[in-house]
Amino acid sequence: MAKLNINGRILDVQVEADTPLLWVIREQVGLTGTKYGCGVAQCGSCSVHINDEVQRSCAIRVGDVQATDKIVTIEGLAPNSSHPVQKAWLAVDVPQCGYCQSGQIMAAAALLKKTPKPTDRDIDAAMTNICRCGTYQRIRTAVHMAAGTKI
Ligand code: FES
Ligand code: FES
Repeated sequence: MAKLNINGRILDVQVEADTPLLWVIREQVGLTGTKYGCGVAQCGSCSVHINDEVQRSCAIRVGDVQATDKIVTIEGLAPNSSHPVQKAWLAVDVPQCGYCQSGQIMAAAALLKKTPKPTDRDIDAAMTNICRCGTYQRIRTAVHMAAGTKI
């Protein structure tokens, strides 16, 4: 049993303490925008925010999350997909297959919260999520667009 704050809702979930947070988000809570890629904290497709920090939810045990921790998934990032990163993603037409993209957007949103005007180097250092379709150039362009910096 765990009590979690996900997207501003307090939820009680019946799971073992060592269940990965990603599983709870997808299976118990039904928020499937957060994706399973590698399961070993390498690809970033499972990225969510916990207390405004981007985290890989496949590698976090639900028992290590406090009820006071604020978890935000792609579904809770902004009403009606109105976050500047989401708008830029749409304008630049970043996704190809789309599988990695919710994780990419969560990583970009966390980056801009800390570094509102990132350089290419900042983006490359922060955006370590893997995209098998190779959308990295458009991701960088969209991050600059969301930041209002020239490409
Ligand atoms: S599924 Fe979590 S980092 Fe790949
Ligand atoms: S858009 Fe296909 S894996 Fe990134």
